[in-house]
Amino acid sequence: MFYFGVDYYPEQWPAERWPEDARLMAEAGLNVVRLAEFAWSRMEPQEEVYDFDWLDRAISILASRGLHVVLGTPTASPPPWLMAQDPALFRVREDGQRVTFGNRRTYCPNNPLYHQATRRIVAALAEHYASHPAVIGWQIDNEFGERCYCPLCARAFQDWLQQRYGSLDALNQRWGTVFWSHTYSDWGEIPVPLATGSSPNPGLALDFFRFCSDSYVAYQQVQVNVLRDRCPTHWITHNLMGFGYDRINYFDLARDLDLVAWDNYPRGYWDMQADVDASRAALSCDAMRGLKDQNFWVMEQQAGPSGWETVSVAPRPGELRLWAYQAIAHGADGIVFFRWRTARFGTEQYWHGLLDHHGHPGRRYAEIKRMGAELEQIGERIHGSHVAPAVAMLLSYDSRFAFQVQANNPQFTYSAHFHHVYRALYERHVPVDVVAPTADLAAYRLVFAPALHVLSEEVAENLRRFVQAGGVLVVTPRTGVKDEDNAVVELPLPGLLAGLSGAEVEEYDSLPPGAYNELEFVLPELAMTPPARASVWCDVLKPSSATVVAHYTQDYNAGQPAITLNRSGQGQVVTIGTFSDADLYRALAPWLLDLAGAQPILTTQAEVEVTERWQGQRRLLFVLNHTDHAQEVALDRGTINLLDGSAPLTGTVTLAPRDTLVLETQ
Ligand code: GAL
Repeated sequence: MFYFGVDYYPEQWPAERWPEDARLMAEAGLNVVRLAEFAWSRMEPQEEVYDFDWLDRAISILASRGLHVVLGTPTASPPPWLMAQDPALFRVREDGQRVTFGNRRTYCPNNPLYHQATRRIVAALAEHYASHPAVIGWQIDNEFGERCYCPLCARAFQDWLQQRYGSLDALNQRWGTVFWSHTYSDWGEIPVPLATGSSPNPGLALDFFRFCSDSYVAYQQVQVNVLRDRCPTHWITHNLMGFGYDRINYFDLARDLDLVAWDNYPRGYWDMQADVDASRAALSCDAMRGLKDQNFWVMEQQAGPSGWETVSVAPRPGELRLWAYQAIAHGADGIVFFRWRTARFGTEQYWHGLLDHHGHPGRRYAEIKRMGAELEQIGERIHGSHVAPAVAMLLSYDSRFAFQVQANNPQFTYSAHFHHVYRALYERHVPVDVVAPTADLAAYRLVFAPALHVLSEEVAENLRRFVQAGGVLVVTPRTGVKDEDNAVVELPLPGLLAGLSGAEVEEYDSLPPGAYNELEFVLPELAMTPPARASVWCDVLKPSSATVVAHYTQDYNAGQPAITLNRSGQGQVVTIGTFSDADLYRALAPWLLDLAGAQPILTTQAEVEVTERWQGQRRLLFVLNHTDHAQEVALDRGTINLLDGSAPLTGTVTLAPRDTLVLETQ
């Protein structure tokens, strides 16, 4: 079944309204609701006094309209009576300040009292709903995040280090604590990297970020254990925050879940752009699908203007449907809109749902009702079909964390660099998997390893295997610089990959803002006017076995190699020596795809997104017009338009503004 629904907070509305809400939901073709996620103080008004009556009533009204239920565990928003028990329940920020009551997710993930209270409420909820016929699954907490620097976490960090290093001698040696006399003689001396301590030892800082990530994974596991034990027939998920959130290793967080879900807000109030960059949500979908190599849900899909203190640009007519289809096009098997009706009170008064404050259906409801009717027709044909790219990008949380410690260049962020590379592929309609550096790469022809800064022997071996077997690997600057302890390797760069790349970094230059070098390509097919630019970072490459693809034309490194190509085994390695911007990767993409024999799905304009999902030999082609004007698209073969059941389409089709086609070919 294709799940299509809303996040609903019955506790925020009079019970007399619930039947009307359920009726409107069912009429819009919705079949699932997420409930209860922030309702701890309604469910446990006093310690160990539970009240699920209101929730039972709400569920029975919703279920009578055929709606299924995903229950949220309420631990992101603890009740005041719990947080009043001990100030140590509150997390401490990097600046050393303890947060206070007011918002949510204020708790320290390692606090034992919090774990105890969590087990209690989750067990009570799970026992109450384990055999409820409407309940299908669970969402744990809400958008885990934020690092805690409290004394309790400091002690837990010391234990974590003891597990990892075994002895203080090993830790001192691997972190290089001889530097500035940081040699520790007792585990208890090791601090957390508070901002007040200023620029920390890179080994300590990377380990602390890993520890913080592990803390949430462990806290989630507390809840997973309770739920698995009581509700063995239900699935368990968490709502993650897409590619953009960079403080938890999402591969680790996803490991213990049955299903990855994420929250998709293309028009955030923090980002007041007139135009939405559709490649961002596409990247998030691909990253979320890659966490378990499995289809995912969007647990919160933007339903209206978003806002806390200020209000975002309103989603344009057609955008809600377009964004939902975009997620489906990238592998979503469930779409849940946040939220049903806009709250009249609370911090999120301006975070709009499908219905406005007044509760009457309007334009956004009508749009979703249209989509609900469409999915009733075609949802079954989409559900379970999979995305099968020949191109992958490696997402390394170790590297991402290490760059949070040392950005290398103030203009550089790992996320933006990753996105530049991704966007070049997205705009050419090349499907991409985003996978862990240790993933099995045998299914891919072309693999990008953007700024794979922290490189283990295991990952280097994985890449060697891929290239030897015929794959094309693309690496960018700052690859292989660090070992797993965040120490710089004692090797010419790119470190463990220097042999594979057939080139070494002879020297490098970190460029100031606005400064650039120019690239001259040796290969005629890459000649560009105006010339491609190198910016942010320039490695001067010294080929051993590689051939030069491009060199710099300016400054002291004029004439020196900037991009090289090496053959190794059956495969090839392209080493790009400059970060530059999206234009460089746009320019290189066709050549790289050619080298690897990887094909775009269709050749058409960049503003139209094209993806495919497969069910055996049956192909579903999604064509999405992200612009506010009609677009013409030339199809590669005859197809059936599933959305209007019309006669087979061939040749050129016209897509209305912000419209989507779902086409099926055998
Ligand atoms: C999400 C969160 C929701 C809601 C929404 C609007 O990040 O998961 O609970 O807060 O943002 O702020």
